[in-house]
Amino acid sequence: MASNNKIETFHITTFGCQMNLADTSTLAATLTTRGYRRVPSEAEADLLIFNTCSVRERAEQRVLGRLGEISGLKRTKPHMKIAVVGCMAQRLGAELREQAPHVDYILGTDRVFELPDVVEGIEGTDSVMTAFGHENMDLITPVKETPHSGFITISRGCDNYCTYCIVPYVRGRERSHSVDYIVDGVKKMVDEGVVEITLLGQNVNSYLYEKTDFSDLLARVAHETAIERIRFMTSHPKDLSHKLVDVMADEPKLMRHLHLPMQAGSDRILRRMGRVYSIEHYLDTVAYIRKKLDYVALTTDLIVGFPSETDEEYRQTLNAVREIQFDSAFMFRYSERPGTKAASFDDDVPEKEKIDRLNRLIALQQEISLKRNQREVERVCHTIVEGESRRSNEFYRGRTEGNKTVLFETDRDCTGEVLPVRIKSADSFTLHGDIVEAG
Ligand code: SAH
Ligand code: SF4
Ligand code: F3S
Repeated sequence: MASNNKIETFHITTFGCQMNLADTSTLAATLTTRGYRRVPSEAEADLLIFNTCSVRERAEQRVLGRLGEISGLKRTKPHMKIAVVGCMAQRLGAELREQAPHVDYILGTDRVFELPDVVEGIEGTDSVMTAFGHENMDLITPVKETPHSGFITISRGCDNYCTYCIVPYVRGRERSHSVDYIVDGVKKMVDEGVVEITLLGQNVNSYLYEKTDFSDLLARVAHETAIERIRFMTSHPKDLSHKLVDVMADEPKLMRHLHLPMQAGSDRILRRMGRVYSIEHYLDTVAYIRKKLDYVALTTDLIVGFPSETDEEYRQTLNAVREIQFDSAFMFRYSERPGTKAASFDDDVPEKEKIDRLNRLIALQQEISLKRNQREVERVCHTIVEGESRRSNEFYRGRTEGNKTVLFETDRDCTGEVLPVRIKSADSFTLHGDIVEAG
């Protein structure tokens, strides 16, 4: 019973990627089913949960910073409990207490959903649990993220071991959910009013359940459910097949957006990163995508300052970015992650140089994003309305087929609808438009 240990309310802070957001929704639903109440502020909560990320050192520092800030709160509320779950809990386990002794529960990525058992001290649980293999994947009920859009994790873990990346260590081996789990999950969300679904995996293109591959899965979700819009991420360039692009071209429910992390423009660096494709292969893939899809937004991830990256190799990244013209990019400076293969390489690009390379790359991409967004002017985008703009309540905010944010004026609450919006102006980050009135 919740009242035995006086824990009745909880608050979750999420760091990291969309998979963590999806896990947070599921965890919240699990706790609610068990009688706990989610509250909007940490001050009201008896149980503070941090769903964490380890992908870069900065991500972990942010978590440690937050944990430091709340240590005082715990002194004034002795019955309060703190749980750290997810990737950083997985990476550090009990070691986390060396830096944050006031953390009560530490649950790794396969154990997150056991939090209510742990809080209630159910036999067989422990305050630190990080062993893999305890998760019955298909028992994790997918939960919608907002009233109108949802995420479904289609596969967990990663087997690619890119040399810089901690994800395979903290998320474990790649496992695909069953087709039924995914199709039924989408149907359930549609019944609850969801219009747009995003299928999530570290590498969705290697999804395989019995004989169903990712393209087959997309076709089944599109044909067997009444969902209106389907998105997915992330695609690994080595596995993105022509078959997938062909399915996208034929299926209007599939949104015209591909997130295809390139990481670097030099073959030597790509090889050293363990990415397995050449830049030529990447360019060929982009060419096929753009040939087959009359409209598509292409986004990417890029790392600068990977160990031993020369100025010339960095320039190859700039050149590829200039040539491809991505709609937008997430850009990072290399961050050494303990235990990865690249951590044994000499991290020899000075921090100052990494910052400089990153800033120049960001400046270039911003110019390109501006140009790409301005190409949308006069287009009518089918926009899913997400709600009032965060900055101003005069505007509503939506997302286009290409996953771009668009702001428009309206005098009625149209949240959750899909509306045609004609774009009238654009900057590097946002489109502005007007609803096209029917008739
Ligand atoms: N599975 C996805 C994304 C994983 S993490 C994929 O393979 O594309 C998201 C992004 O973080 C990566 O694409 C990469 O650009 C970046 N990243 C991962 N590890 C990093 C590190 N050690 N330093 C800097 N950036 C990193
Ligand atoms: Fe990390 Fe590479 Fe796996 Fe992506 S594909 S999660 S970058 S190891
Ligand atoms: Fe971070 Fe874990 Fe996602 S390390 S990026 S939260 S899979």
